[in-house]
Amino acid sequence: MKIVIIGTGYVGLVTGVCFAAVGNEVVCVDNNISKVKQLQEGIPTIYERGLDHFLKKNVFEKRISFTENLGEVVDSADLIFIAVGTPSKGESGETDLSYVLSVTEDIARTINHDAYVVIKSTAPVGTADKMKEKFHSVIKDLGKEDLNIFVSSNPEFLKEGTAIEDFMHPDRIVIGTDDAESKNRLSELYKIFEEDSGVPVVYTDVASAQLIKYASNAFNACKISFINSLTRYCDTVGADISDVAKGMGLDKRIGRAFLNAGIGYGGSCFPKDVASLKYEISKKTKNDTTGILSGIEDINYKAWHWIVELVESLISQNKVPAKPNVTILGLAFKPDTDDVRYSPAVNIITELSNICNIKTYDQIAMKNAEIALHKKEDEEISPNFDNITYCNYLNDAVTDADIVILCTEWDEFKCILADDIVSLMRGDIFIDGRNALDQKEMSMFFDYYCVGKPHIYKN
Ligand code: UGA
Repeated sequence: MKIVIIGTGYVGLVTGVCFAAVGNEVVCVDNNISKVKQLQEGIPTIYERGLDHFLKKNVFEKRISFTENLGEVVDSADLIFIAVGTPSKGESGETDLSYVLSVTEDIARTINHDAYVVIKSTAPVGTADKMKEKFHSVIKDLGKEDLNIFVSSNPEFLKEGTAIEDFMHPDRIVIGTDDAESKNRLSELYKIFEEDSGVPVVYTDVASAQLIKYASNAFNACKISFINSLTRYCDTVGADISDVAKGMGLDKRIGRAFLNAGIGYGGSCFPKDVASLKYEISKKTKNDTTGILSGIEDINYKAWHWIVELVESLISQNKVPAKPNVTILGLAFKPDTDDVRYSPAVNIITELSNICNIKTYDQIAMKNAEIALHKKEDEEISPNFDNITYCNYLNDAVTDADIVILCTEWDEFKCILADDIVSLMRGDIFIDGRNALDQKEMSMFFDYYCVGKPHIYKN
């Protein structure tokens, strides 16, 4: 099929490359010319495992191409996917649909036949109606009233870092349509997944498809916050959160995934989607049921803020100097990505840089973290940049540290040699925000704090 994808962020690019890999003719459109030029040469604009090879192969074999000129390509498309950003407007959680609507306007201006448009971006229920309204107002002005737009929803469930694998081997495919032709076209596109790999396809209306996406992300965020809600209690009563998660997870109704306790979820999806769902439910219904969503957010804040409070208490107990040297290992919101959006590590550095000297290290995400920290300059609590040093090597980062804090469980950190690290430090406190290391072994060298486990004091 001929597919046009608008937006070459991680969703659009991965979607485009994967549709091309299964035999479709794909054109990706982006208004950022330098991005388009880079992609035309087969060089990825994001860090995503396996993308480099997939992109080069499909560019070389001419199954995927890139352009900034939407008008040139929409007319020949069987389906037009919209994969542009849908960020939060601000504190309220309301979703900013301006990019989606501006793309809809561009389609209306340039297309000369009916448009079969699919929303890939995560966008709230009601977005399709707003797009139709925009489309019809533009074509009316242009005297093309006989044209129509059909809007479907086909949400993505890609995790950053494993996005290609998730696309090629999904748990399910969700197709939300309100017209027969869109359903035919989308089922034709996904036939290969359904027939060759037996992937279940959920056919539904547009509203339900959009809600499936929000509900799935909010539910997974809920699992994380649920387990994190038990961590301080575990510390206090001597229970081990990892064993609790294991025991719970063996119940097939619960499942073990997303029950890893730690400093909370981040990234471009969970925080934004929980906030958006909360906003939409409270706006549209009289019976406000958003308490559970507020609870998820509240516990997620407490999950990373616990680290700040722990460092403050170590200072007040004189276990470290009044202005300690603190090393933050890992800045990305999770391993295998350079994404630092809503990263707990960035929040922790922001607060701790006002009371500590910070050295930090992340093999991939350091540049992005520096930019993200600078964006926090005008916030109520802003970073003290004089106290932050970015290190290119792990050993430099831990040298002279009083406290080392692991925020992202990169493989590189999982195999650190405790005796090597402690010999470089001034102090011997290690806080493992992701329960990534072996508690018994670490406790031989460090005063080792982890999440939701009884504290073992160094021998
Ligand atoms: C998430 C969803 O998992 C995808 O299905 C969805 O498509 C995507 O959002 C999206 O809406 O685009 P992603 O944000 O890439 O994917 O990351 P996850 O792997 O889900 O992790 C999210 C956060 O939860 C990370 O900060 C991670 O460290 C944290 N997490 C995850 C935990 O703290 N504990 C866990 O047990 C699992």
